[in-house]
Amino acid sequence: MAEQRIATLSLDGKSYELPVMSPTAGPDVLDIRKLYGQADVFTYDPGFTSTASCDSTITYIDGDKGELLYRGYPIEQLAEKSHHLEAAYLLLYGELPTETQMNDFERTVTRHTMVHEQMHNFFRGFRRDAHPMATMVGVVGAMSAFYHDSTDISDPRQREIAAFRLIAKLPTIAAMAYKYSIGQPFVYPRNDLDYASNFLHMCFAVPAEEYKVEPALAKAMDRIFLLHADHEQNASTSTVRLAGSSGANPFACIAAGIACLWGPAHGGANQACLEMLREIGTVDRIPEFIEKAKDKNSGFRLMGFGHRVYKNFDPRAKVMKESADEVLELLGVENNPTLQVAKELERIALEDDYFISKKLYPNVDFYSGIILDAMGFPTSMFTPIFALSRTVGWIAQWREMISDPQLKIGRPRQLYVGATQRDYVDVGQR
Ligand code: CMC
Repeated sequence: MAEQRIATLSLDGKSYELPVMSPTAGPDVLDIRKLYGQADVFTYDPGFTSTASCDSTITYIDGDKGELLYRGYPIEQLAEKSHHLEAAYLLLYGELPTETQMNDFERTVTRHTMVHEQMHNFFRGFRRDAHPMATMVGVVGAMSAFYHDSTDISDPRQREIAAFRLIAKLPTIAAMAYKYSIGQPFVYPRNDLDYASNFLHMCFAVPAEEYKVEPALAKAMDRIFLLHADHEQNASTSTVRLAGSSGANPFACIAAGIACLWGPAHGGANQACLEMLREIGTVDRIPEFIEKAKDKNSGFRLMGFGHRVYKNFDPRAKVMKESADEVLELLGVENNPTLQVAKELERIALEDDYFISKKLYPNVDFYSGIILDAMGFPTSMFTPIFALSRTVGWIAQWREMISDPQLKIGRPRQLYVGATQRDYVDVGQR
């Protein structure tokens, strides 16, 4: 057995031993769990730039290499050879399924795609012009009211059913949020269609005429789902884990994850990115926006660029760029001006010292919006699509946490810099 490595911290003439934990891949981790008890100090790391919040076996990112692995399998291989529900099985159970396991899994997910009929009434309580993400946060949170029989987290069977319900119903809920926002009737799921085709059908079919899903578009949709399925301890996943650490039910936890994902620094970037590309409009305006992004006082950032972990190409962005070319060619819009602006913006930014020195590369959100737009989705649906894809990862991470016998409530400490104790002053004397 390898000898336990120890780091030593010296403070005020005393030294403290910090065991070094070795991962199967990635940097070593200093175990500071006993530090406060021994030395009466906290560590300080806002934004968690140097903090591992848990151990996990699900997803691995090497940000310097630009590598993303689901349970050890490279994302590029999965994007080429696998599909979203197979990746979901892999993320949830740790191994690729046999044919029988896959068929059973797919059948179970498919059987859960309908939502409780009363949910239709719940949807109708929202303002017609609500952002679909706002509707989704509310509806997914309300799932704990509609599916109360799968909220006992101490029962593994209920946890399993909740997982299936979430993976199966999120596309239905996202599509309903969309239909509601455009004033069209809800379209029920079709269990003869695969996961991605069913989603496209629920979004674009209308009762008045037949809608045939184009298989190549369904494939591109499925790839978008798969590429977004998990990304280790990102902000929304950490939110799901933190919410779940208190024992909250999975529907409440996933609603919390959706709320976190909505922000423009996270999942909201796909909407913000397409809006930015449209605002740039033509290739000649790119330098102006590059300069603005470099100017700290402008408050403007290139959306779809940069990442906390990737200091190289985001491997998902590479696959997404190929997909964008394929989808636009299929739809006969190769000369899409937004795609031209995106490609030129990428080229210019990657030759610019500012972006080179800060290692800012296109991320997953840079090209995804172009594909979704070409498919007919409005920008407001981009983040809901991210949310339904990421649901798989959120659940896998939540399940991993809940089944950990060492589970503790997540409870960070702080560096308090406010007023020290003082006496209350009566209102007339202030
Ligand atoms: N445009 C211009 N400058 C940038 C950008 C950008 N997109 N991203 C980072 N920088 C600069 C930033 O100003 C800072 O400069 P300095 O060191 O001089 O202060 C430096 O690069 C490091 O940035 P940071 O904000 O400290 O890095 P972070 O790891 O906290 O933030 C990020 C990561 C993704 C929030 C950030 O890169 C960003 O805001 N990007 C745009 C939004 C975006 O595309 N988000 C999607 C991320 S991928 C999908 C997902 O997670 O949902």
